[in-house]
Amino acid sequence: ISSQANELVPKKSVSVILLAGGKGKRMGANIPKQYLPLLGQPIALYSFHIFSLMSEVKEIVVVCDPSYRDIFEEARNSMTVYLKFASPGKERQDSVFNGLQEVDQTTELVCVHDSARPLVLSGNVKKVLKDAWVHGAAVLGVPVKATIKEASNDSFVTRTLNRQTLWEMQTPQVIKPSLLRKGFEVVHREGLEVTDDVSIVEHLKHPVYITEGSYSNIKVTTPDDILLAERILNQR
Ligand code: CTP
Ligand code: MG
Repeated sequence: ISSQANELVPKKSVSVILLAGGKGKRMGANIPKQYLPLLGQPIALYSFHIFSLMSEVKEIVVVCDPSYRDIFEEARNSMTVYLKFASPGKERQDSVFNGLQEVDQTTELVCVHDSARPLVLSGNVKKVLKDAWVHGAAVLGVPVKATIKEASNDSFVTRTLNRQTLWEMQTPQVIKPSLLRKGFEVVHREGLEVTDDVSIVEHLKHPVYITEGSYSNIKVTTPDDILLAERILNQR
C-alpha cells in the first residue's frame, strides 16, 4: 500500500480523455452512435456532464471528429473545467494516444472513458479515481454473470473458464500519465495491438486494480442498447 492510501484525490488533478472518435459500425445509424439522442440528449453529453461537475477534474480532452466539436462547446455553458479537443486515430488506442498528447503536464491521473457509456455513475467514477490514486492504475469492472467457454476456430468447446476469476471491463480506466506514456512506448516499439488501454499497462507488468462498478454501466453498441439505456435512465 502506497503512502497515498489514505489521502483523497486532489482537486483539479485529473484529466479526462473522453473518447468520441468511433464510427459506431455495429449501431448502423447514419451518425456515430455517441451523438444519437438518449431521452433527447446526445449520448456523449451524459458522461461529459458528470465529469464536468467533479471537483477532481481539471480538464476534459474530447477526442472527436472536428465537425462534432460544437456539441461539446455548446454544452459547456458555465463549466469550470477546461475543454480541449484531439482528433481520432484509426483504432481506439490511437485515439487514446492522441488525447494523451493534449493532457496537461501537471496532471496526476488520466481518466479514459468511452462516450458510448452514458450511464456511468458519479459515485463509481469517484471510487475508481481513488483506487487509481492508491494503486497507480484502476479500471471499473463487474463480475461476469454468464458461463464463458473458450472455443476452437471451428466452434468446438475447448475449455470452460472459471467464472469466479472473470471480470468484464468497463470504463473509466484510470492511470498515472507517466505509466500510460511508458505503456505506449512499449506498445509502439513492439507493434502490439491492445483492445483496452489498461492492457497497455499490463505490458509494463504494473498491477491494475479492478474497482467493482455497476452492471448498468453498459456500452451502447447496437440499437437494442438504446432502448435498454432509456429504460435504465427512466428508473433513476
Ligand atoms: N473510439 C474512438 N476512436 C476510435 C474507435 C473508438 O474514440 N478509433 C471510441 C468510440 O467512440 C467509443 C469507444 O471508443 O466511445 C468504444 O468503442 P466502440 O464501442 O467499439 O465504438 P465504435 O468503434 O464507434 O463502434 P463500432 O466498433 O461498432 O464501430
Ligand atoms: Mg469499435
